[in-house]
Amino acid sequence: MSVSLTTVAYIGATILFILSLGGLSNQQTALRGNLYGMIGMAIAVLATVFGPQVSGVLNYAWIVGAMLVGASIGLYAARTVKMTQMPELVALMHSMVGLAAMLVGFATYIDPEASKGYIGAAKSIHQMEIYIGILIGSITFSGSVIAFGKLSGRIGGNPMLLPGRHWMNLAGLLLVIYFARDFLQAESLSAGMTPLIVMTVIALLFGIHMVMAIGGADMPVVVSMLNSYSGWAAAATGFMLSNDLLIVTGALVGSSGAILSYIMCTAMNRSFISVIAGGFGTTSAKPKAAGGAAQAAGEVIPVNASETAELLREAKSVIIVPGYGMAVAQAQHTVFEITRHLREKGVKVRFGIHPVAGRMPGHMNVLLAEAKVPYDIVFEMDELNEDFPATDVVMVIGANDIVNPGAQDDPSSPIAGMPVLEVWKAKTSIVMKRSMASGYAGVDNPLFYKENNRMLFGDARKMLDEVLTALKT
Ligand code: TAP
Repeated sequence: MSVSLTTVAYIGATILFILSLGGLSNQQTALRGNLYGMIGMAIAVLATVFGPQVSGVLNYAWIVGAMLVGASIGLYAARTVKMTQMPELVALMHSMVGLAAMLVGFATYIDPEASKGYIGAAKSIHQMEIYIGILIGSITFSGSVIAFGKLSGRIGGNPMLLPGRHWMNLAGLLLVIYFARDFLQAESLSAGMTPLIVMTVIALLFGIHMVMAIGGADMPVVVSMLNSYSGWAAAATGFMLSNDLLIVTGALVGSSGAILSYIMCTAMNRSFISVIAGGFGTTSAKPKAAGGAAQAAGEVIPVNASETAELLREAKSVIIVPGYGMAVAQAQHTVFEITRHLREKGVKVRFGIHPVAGRMPGHMNVLLAEAKVPYDIVFEMDELNEDFPATDVVMVIGANDIVNPGAQDDPSSPIAGMPVLEVWKAKTSIVMKRSMASGYAGVDNPLFYKENNRMLFGDARKMLDEVLTALKT
């Protein structure tokens, strides 16, 4: 493939990636966005493999073999991983990007061909690219592995707060700068290897330390932040390999991940800078283990499915707030059936989506779209929060933290300051969950004990099936 054809292919792929990101920002266009991304990636891989930069030095058998192995693992994961396990899968994938950046960095440094032609300032710049690439890659790799461990429950969700941790981070940073100087001044390959390896170990430890210090409830921001880091790691790899497309793609992922982190920080009322610096979400009040029984703080009023149906039947306006439990129970289809039934009876039904409902950004939107809930009745938290006082019934389906009034009223709560859906302001709220257990953040929820709140205990899907039957009879 000629240089000019490769350039054209790279520009085409870049445009498709930008269109893909644009498409993914909206539910209606998300499918198209995915398609653009897939076509862009296919063009990018083909143009790289057959492009002038690497063809000739490549062993195609290795490439095909690696692609087959990678594609099989990807297909298997796509088929078997549950929607609720998606964040941990994403974290694992970010770790692969980090590991790749690390390995490419070392390979580029060792390979005499890769540094051929670099002299003087150009050589220093090239070495700096390698150093920074390995640095970002190592942080991304170890941080993502820890994030995977935390999200999958293999590592405890509580923040690990080492004494003087900020000083340790600062010392790590100074050491990384010191060894960068050693690395740049190294006379030989072996002399440069020592500072490179020491820096890699520091970066790996920093990645572990940074994510270990983050509390469970704040993990969504960390995942999106690591997404951003993985983008920058890919961009750094692009510089090392002098591959423009990788630089652009990495920068797109890096900046979109940073923007998403910022949006999520705002949604959780956290400071973006403190996330970047690590040690984030470490309030003095330690969260109880997620899923543990919430402390009794009064009486709750349980209702059954037919009483719930009665309340819905009498309502003029209903807001449904889905959460993680709806995803676990796979109740979205029944939710849609109930919505359709109520709307046919003239009830105004809307959905209220919290930005961090579920376990990944857009989790609820994906499930509702899958169940064919019309987009025009699905609203973001900010669009709906003022409407609760004028709402007759709010159905909270398997949500907990995102409707916790303690976030507003209790400054000692681990989720204090996180914006929440103010469901308790409706005439009646009905919370559907299996028990009095806490949610992801492991905190008690005063909503359950409010006078106008009712509890419908049981698996969300089973209970909603019963509510639907009761509504129809
Ligand atoms: P949670 O606060 O985790 O509450 C979910 C509730 O669903 C639980 O209290 C659980 O209570 C109930 N539940 C579980 N399985 C159920 C089932 N089969 N049927 C009925 N109920 C069921 O969820 P949320 O309100 O959606 O809040 C999300 C939380 O996750 C936030 O703290 C957020 O920070 C965090 N988080 C979010 C993300 C993103 S990006 N969205 C990523 C990671 C973490 P029972 O056990 O009593 O049934």
